[in-house]
Amino acid sequence: MFVTLLILSVFTGNLSANQSGQSGERDGNSDNMVLPEINGDKFYYFGYGSNMLTMRIHLQNPTAIKIGPGVLNDYRLDFHTYTKRWEGAPATVVPHQNRTVLGTLWEIDLINLSNLDKQEGVAQEIYRPLSLSIAHPPNRTTVARVYMLVNQPSTDLKLLQPDDTPFNRQPSKTYLKCLIKGAIETGLASDYVNWLKSIKHNGNVVDELENLLDLKDVDISN
Ligand SMILES: *[C@@H]1O[C@H](CO)[C@@H](O)[C@H](O)[C@H]1NC(C)=O
Ligand SMILES: *[C@@H]1O[C@H](CO)[C@@H](O)[C@H](O)[C@H]1NC(C)=O
Ligand SMILES: *[C@@H]1O[C@H](CO)[C@@H](O)[C@H](O)[C@H]1NC(C)=O
Ligand SMILES: *[C@@H]1O[C@H](CO)[C@@H](O)[C@H](O)[C@H]1NC(C)=O
Repeated sequence: MFVTLLILSVFTGNLSANQSGQSGERDGNSDNMVLPEINGDKFYYFGYGSNMLTMRIHLQNPTAIKIGPGVLNDYRLDFHTYTKRWEGAPATVVPHQNRTVLGTLWEIDLINLSNLDKQEGVAQEIYRPLSLSIAHPPNRTTVARVYMLVNQPSTDLKLLQPDDTPFNRQPSKTYLKCLIKGAIETGLASDYVNWLKSIKHNGNVVDELENLLDLKDVDISN
């Protein structure tokens, strides 16, 4: 019974991803209900946005255990649309040859996989889950769950001059601080952290989250 419930909840996640009509990038699990990111009663998850920060992921996923820094090859970090919670554009990963997204690899109790899907708005087709290979030290790769915005940006943030960055590509100041704090906590390369600091934000400050996540003193100047 326990196992059946798990498979059902995983299958439901897969179905809602499929309903967006973009199921192609999952690593061939459509006829195999066991997701490759599952390991026993745990699954691996790669956070590249606010969930790089331990305090933040533990708000909704208290069972998350940090494995360490990870690299998603052939994708780039970008931002698009708007979330009310953070008052700015949320992060996404976009396929992009020879670019990398750095982030944090976590191990989470499988029982809470549907909670994470809920947090990422999978049923509302805000994000869709993928199973992608994450490189991490020492010289390993692990398939992890990675969420990508359904509504992807069509241009490359890195090619935009800061002052030409449209509003729907700008994270809030609070969200950017959360990413920078999480990236430093994870020990990501300083040139990546400096690039995060250079990203144009929309100036919005969400006091409740700054207090909750202790973001007031995060230095975002380059
Ligand atoms: C996913 O969508 C495709 C194409 O619409 C369909 O053929 C397939 O049966 C769907 N798979 C699942 C698991 O719903
Ligand atoms: C990616 O890197 C490889 C090896 O350096 C190079 O041959 C290739 O042209 C690059 N592709 C793009 C799209 O930059
Ligand atoms: C994780 O799953 C358990 C069992 O369903 C549930 O009691 C708990 O509230 C979940 N945790 C979170 C943070 O949702
Ligand atoms: C990394 O792992 C691969 C495959 O196991 C091995 O061939 C390679 O030598 C390793 N590289 C280092 C630097 O340990």
